[in-house]
Amino acid sequence: MASTRALTSLAGALAVLPTALAGFDAGSKSNVAVYWGQNSFGQGSGPNVQERLAHYCQNTDIDIIPIAFLNGLAPPEINFANASDNCTTFPEDPSLQDCPQIGEDIVTCQEAGKTIILSMGGATYSGGGFSSEQDATAAAQNLWAMFGPEQEGSDVLRPFGSASVDGFDYDFESATSNMVPFGVELRRLMDEATAAGDKPYYITAAPQCPFPDAANKEALDGGVFFDFIMIQFYNNFCGINSFVPGQEEQATFNMQTWDDWAASTSLNPDVKIMLGVPANQGAGGGYTEGEALAAAIEWSGRFASFGGVMMWDMSQLYANDGFLENVVGALG
Ligand SMILES: *[C@@H]1O[C@H](CO)[C@@H](O)[C@H](O)[C@H]1NC(C)=O
Ligand SMILES: *[C@@H]1O[C@H](CO)[C@@H](O)[C@H](O)[C@H]1NC(C)=O
Repeated sequence: MASTRALTSLAGALAVLPTALAGFDAGSKSNVAVYWGQNSFGQGSGPNVQERLAHYCQNTDIDIIPIAFLNGLAPPEINFANASDNCTTFPEDPSLQDCPQIGEDIVTCQEAGKTIILSMGGATYSGGGFSSEQDATAAAQNLWAMFGPEQEGSDVLRPFGSASVDGFDYDFESATSNMVPFGVELRRLMDEATAAGDKPYYITAAPQCPFPDAANKEALDGGVFFDFIMIQFYNNFCGINSFVPGQEEQATFNMQTWDDWAASTSLNPDVKIMLGVPANQGAGGGYTEGEALAAAIEWSGRFASFGGVMMWDMSQLYANDGFLENVVGALG
């Protein structure tokens, strides 16, 4: 008996290992994503300064790190706030940062099992997308050459060197055009690479909770195949702070609406929805913590599409003792 049990638990441990190292897991309701790069807590020094990416990849509670932001698409531009301190610019293109340290850290994080997604847009992006489908398709090909797998013979500048991100995140917060042909081409390139033996790649989005999301509407409205979306349940009336514990039906907190979207509108019927929350008092309007937050997470777990929790952002989270533990505890 004892040895059987030992064998069973050993097999169990082995079975658990790859999952624990798998980053985003479409079959899990407890994925944890934390944005990194914008140093939202705002410290330039001291214990709460934003550290380099690899520092956070030692944290086994975190599965997914969207890095923010690719804040220009054509021409591409990256901005990582203080994390850009160790970047230089390319002599061939002084408007593009060269960030080998972030590239090195992306690889370190991927080796630790993290899914690293390049987040596009952000509140300061004002490019408006693309003026034609052709421009959108060309931009997708260019970004894939820059941040996807290295292409033999290509002379495109690669800010992260040989590192290949695990996907791209739609985080547009103002009106954009032609984001559907852009996403369709990105997905085609990803699927082609995966079919040829490369790793899986993901397209994600970070819409705001009011439905439908104004800036990412066309892509979300059946246009682009998203693997998971990380909804910003903050800065809005429908946010996490409007969740009423103990009520079966929620009048304002609109996770149900988004679950309906997943089931009826999303191009990917198995798309996962992550509950996005501010990770600290100053990280976003409607900050919620403790039992109220745990209750909202547990309630959201009833939805088939529920995939876990997203937090904004890493610097805020690390300055807020106990917050991550509370989230992980509520995810069970
Ligand atoms: C990092 O960001 C903070 C807040 O924006 C700023 O006060 C500080 O000077 C920055 N530090 C460096 C080294 O750029
Ligand atoms: C810059 O690199 C140094 C040396 O690795 C590291 O200690 C520091 O955290 C880095 N700065 C940023 C902002 O990533």
